[in-house]
Order: sequence, then C-alpha cells, then structure tokens
Amino acid sequence: MDQNLVKREQWSSKLGFIFAAVGSAVGLGNLWGFAYRSSQGGGAAFVILYILVVLIICIPVFVAEFSLGRNTSTSAFLAPIKAAGQNWAPLGWLFLVAPLAIASYYSVIMGWTIDMFFHILFNKLPANKEEADQLFNLLSGGNRDMIGQILSLFLGGLIISAGIKKGIEKINKICMPLLFFLLFSLVVWAAFLNNALEGYYNFILNFDLSQLFDPDNIKNAFSQAFFSLSLGIGIMVTYSSYLNKKSDLPKQSFQIASLDTLVGLMAGLITFPIMFTFGFGSSFDGDPIGALFKYIPTGLGDYGLAGRIVAILFFGLIYIAAITSLISLLEIPVSTLKDKFNFDRKKATFFTIIFTFLIGIPSAINAGFIGKIDAIANILLILGGFLVSFLLAWVVPKTLDDELINSGSSLITRNYLKFMLKYITPILISAGLLVTIKQTLIQWVGN
Ligand code: PHE
Repeated sequence: MDQNLVKREQWSSKLGFIFAAVGSAVGLGNLWGFAYRSSQGGGAAFVILYILVVLIICIPVFVAEFSLGRNTSTSAFLAPIKAAGQNWAPLGWLFLVAPLAIASYYSVIMGWTIDMFFHILFNKLPANKEEADQLFNLLSGGNRDMIGQILSLFLGGLIISAGIKKGIEKINKICMPLLFFLLFSLVVWAAFLNNALEGYYNFILNFDLSQLFDPDNIKNAFSQAFFSLSLGIGIMVTYSSYLNKKSDLPKQSFQIASLDTLVGLMAGLITFPIMFTFGFGSSFDGDPIGALFKYIPTGLGDYGLAGRIVAILFFGLIYIAAITSLISLLEIPVSTLKDKFNFDRKKATFFTIIFTFLIGIPSAINAGFIGKIDAIANILLILGGFLVSFLLAWVVPKTLDDELINSGSSLITRNYLKFMLKYITPILISAGLLVTIKQTLIQWVGN
C-alpha cells in the first residue's frame, strides 16, 4: 500500500480542494433537509442551534478529520489504523460503511430528482395536490426510479474514474459557481413572492425559546449539521489525504463550514416564501419528501411558464448539488479499494457503483426504507465525529499538533482547537449522540 504514497494524487490548488469539500457538503441536505428541519423546530430556534453546533462542535471536528487525512495520506478506511494501530480498525469500517449506506439511498433520491427535472421540462406542472401525488408515485414507484438511480451512479462513476484533478476537482469548479449563481437568482425571485415576508418571519424570526431545549430540535440540529457538512464519516479524511502539507486547515474548515451554512440559509430563503405564498403553512406535515417533490412543483404551477422555469432551475440546482456530494461518498470505497487492494481507479469505481446500486435496491423499491437508513446514518455520522475527535485529541495528539503547526496556525488558534477537541467537543457530541439515539428510538417505537 505504501507505494501509493509516492505517487498519490493531489488537488491542483487550495481553491480546488475548497470547491471539492464545499461540493461534498452542499447537497440534498442543505436544499431540502435544512428547510424541512427548521420548519419542524420553530424556525429560528433550529437555526440558532444549528449554527452553535457548527461553530462549537463541527469546526474542531473538521480540523480533526483534516489532520488525520493529511497526516496519514491514505484512504479513510486505513487512516485510523495507520495513525493509531489496529485497535482503531473499527473506525475505518465506520468510515467505509456509512458513506456506502448514504450513497445507496442518495442515488435513489437523485433518480427522482432527475426524473422530475425531465418531466417538468416537457410537461406542465401538477395543478393540485392529487396530481402531484400521482406524479410522485409515478417517479418513485416500480422500476422506473432504478433507471434514475443507475444513471446517477453511472454519472458519478464517470467523474471519479477521471481522477482527483481531472474528475472531482474539475466538475466542482464548474458546478459550484453555477450552483451559487442559480441559488442567488432563486433567492431574488422568491423575495418578490406575495408572502415572502411571512416566510422569512417563520424561518428566522419566529423565535420560541423553549424550542432550544426541545430534544427533537437538538437531534435535528446535530443530524443536520453533521450530514450537511459531510462530517464524521471520513469524507473529509479522504479529501484532505490529497492535500499538500502547507494549507491552513483551521482556516479552510471555517470557510467550508461557512459556505455550507450560507447555502442552507439561502435554501430556506427560497423554500419558506414558496411554502407561505402557496399556502402550505410552516410545517411540512412530517412529510419531508412531499415538501420537495409535491408541494413545491404544485405551488409553482400557479405561476404559469415563469413557475415552470423556476421549477426546472430548482430541480436542476438540486441535482447539481447532489452529484458533487455523491462523488465524495463514492470516493471513499474507491480510494479504499485502491489503497488496500491496489485496484486501479477505473476498476475500483466499477465495483463501487455496482455494489452501491445493489444495496440501494431496497430504497428504490420502498421509499419508507430511506428514512430508516438515513436515521441510522445520522447516528453513525455523530458517532464518527466523536471518535475522530477523541482519536486526535487523546490518542495521537502529536499528529494534531504537527498538522496545526504545518498549517501555520497561531498559538492561540492551536491551543483553542486542542482545548476544544480534548475537553469540550467530545462531551457535547456525546450528549448530542445520546439525545439523537433516544429520539430516534422513540420515533421508531411510536410508529
Ligand atoms: N453533505 C451532503 C448533503 O448535504 C450529503 C453527504 C453526507 C455527503 C455525508 C457526504 C457525506 O447533501
């Protein structure tokens, strides 16, 4: 495996790395999850909790993942073993299994998205809730969604088989600016909707203090933060393994987390005005899938051709955001097969795609299954975040220290991050993890 170290691929520039990491972070989680979760948790209280989790917990975890990846220069599966020995192999397994689990259903949802995109490109939007239900059942039922699923995996595979610079970096450099442009245009469009102000109010101003302590809201903030930042499951370990020794890890962590949060907020500034203008109220009625695939197209249907164009842009935007996340998920098994079994990139990609397709079949057949794996994946993300912080702060503190010094961080930044990772982050994540597990179990038993 060591021969890979010599010729390990690298990002061509700092910006290339940032684009790729933001590309992984920004995805369905921001454009869909952020809005529906905040609608469940009293708007502002969720947004505040989310931002606190990002600032206090996620940024140090980012630094830990980046330090592990850059220091070991190997795939996420092998990195914990290389850093701290065989006892840490289970963390490598978590880093392998969790991205595969997410990729399995992520590609199915991408299949629905691309199907919806083409449907509304050639047909009118649904006129009412019944038509929207019918349309969604058509997209997500039977074998039809497997076509979108396999196409998305194939497209993702095509990109990663081209390599780090020519594949992942290149596509992100094209998609990220496009995504920000589309997003910004839609925010401006939504600002002119009749009930835009009511939407904003419910998204960020409607503040209920008690919601800050509501366990479901806390679970939502943790799950959303880790999922949205692609944190805790080795994505950032893998991406930083292609990084050169000099880049400033704490600074880049902050930049990536800020851009990702900005996208989540912008998505809310689009979806909330839509929901309120078209009378769908503040709650997505416990039907998050419905929110994206039923209410939004139906609502936009009232706006004639302009509404249809917006819907086409919106679903195009979601697909672009999702493909750059899917490739980061697939890169974990691909890099593992390369580093551990010396597969070449193309062969590793081929096996990864076939395997991901097969384990995604239950999600394609039964949409209800997606919620279940998603809940388990969210727990794994938070658990992984805990373990990686613990590993860097307590087991291999020298690795963390070396990487912070390599980054050129000031003494204050270094001490702050070391202190957080040692004493604060693990405790807060453990608390978040327990609440998340408990609320998930309550939900399951309740159903
Ligand atoms: N962060 C991506 C999103 O918000 C999803 C993702 C999660 C990607 C975990 C990689 C790892 O959609």
